[in-house]
Amino acid sequence: MKKVLITGANGQVGNEFTARLRKDLGKDNVIATDIKIKPDSANATEGIFEELDVTDVKRFRELAHKYKVDAIIHLASLLSVSSEKDPVFAWSLNTGSIINGLEIAKELKAQFFFPSSVAAYGVDAQPRFNTPQDTFMHPITIYGASKYAGEMLANYYHWNHGVDARSVRFGRLVSYKVRPGQGATDYAVAIYFDAIEKGSYECYLRPDTMLDFMYVDDAVDQVLKFLNTDEKKLTHRNGFNVTTFYATPEDIAASIKKFIPDFKITYKLDPVRQAIADSWPQHMDDSWARKEWGLDPKIGLDQMTEIILTNLRIKLKNEGAK
Ligand SMILES: NC(=O)c1ccc[n+]([C@@H]2O[C@H](COP(=O)([O-])OP(=O)(O)OC[C@H]3O[C@@H](n4cnc5c(N)ncnc54)[C@H](O)[C@@H]3O)[C@@H](O)[C@H]2O)c1
Repeated sequence: MKKVLITGANGQVGNEFTARLRKDLGKDNVIATDIKIKPDSANATEGIFEELDVTDVKRFRELAHKYKVDAIIHLASLLSVSSEKDPVFAWSLNTGSIINGLEIAKELKAQFFFPSSVAAYGVDAQPRFNTPQDTFMHPITIYGASKYAGEMLANYYHWNHGVDARSVRFGRLVSYKVRPGQGATDYAVAIYFDAIEKGSYECYLRPDTMLDFMYVDDAVDQVLKFLNTDEKKLTHRNGFNVTTFYATPEDIAASIKKFIPDFKITYKLDPVRQAIADSWPQHMDDSWARKEWGLDPKIGLDQMTEIILTNLRIKLKNEGAK
């Protein structure tokens, strides 16, 4: 990867990829894009930024060809809760933009990556703990169906058109730089903001809802390791399960209490988000990623909590000072 176009660069994950790749490849070799520019953001001021609606294949193609990119990191998508509110739009945005990106990758002989999700699994995936890489998928959400369809499209473009298309299934990624959005598990970001701002958090999932997590810096590191792996070493290529640790809201609250002893968590269930989270495995088996390309994330729950609380305090203080 020498020159990359990133879509959805203003999002939680996109911000991290953009900053990291500008460091690794040089700022002129990273074309950050999103549907709207945020003129004051580091994305817009510290390197190349272009407005791109990924459903506009003409503009997508023009930008990729103009900058002659050799990789596309495609992050733009509608997340799980928003997708359920408008399934037709979610399907056309999420799957339509993947096929747009794959077509362009084919033309440019570029590498293509998109993040799939634990949501690609549904309730038929067994066992619920250590769920295998290859099993019945049957996602029950439109978001999950679009992610699984994306994996199939990426395989199709690889086998039939030679595109070096790769993806991983993330559980919940946790960061502190962007406020939580509309995912079914955004509590895992919101809880840290509220811990600092209010000293308490009202959680919309049951205390025992177990899911997979990864700190976002680890996620970026691991994806770059994956994308730099010689493709001859890969048996799978789409939908690698990747995770660092599994935890419940109770576990995350207990971890926060180690740093903020007075922190309190209460629960008021949101049945929609609970049903979505319950349809996902509690923990995915990621042994194929470990075997095939050396997945080796480092940051566990308490270390992540410490990093987030330390940095988020500084960020909120700076924002308050503005
Ligand atoms: N955050 C997680 O825990 C997680 C887990 C698994 C998979 N993923 C996947 O990672 C990717 C990034 O997730 P995120 O958490 O950063 O999401 P996010 O919602 O924070 O960011 C998505 C970005 O896409 C942009 N976008 C939306 N519609 C667009 C369009 N039509 N054209 C161009 N840009 C558009 C938004 O403006 C936003 O900046 C998504 O594909 C998501 O499904 C995320």
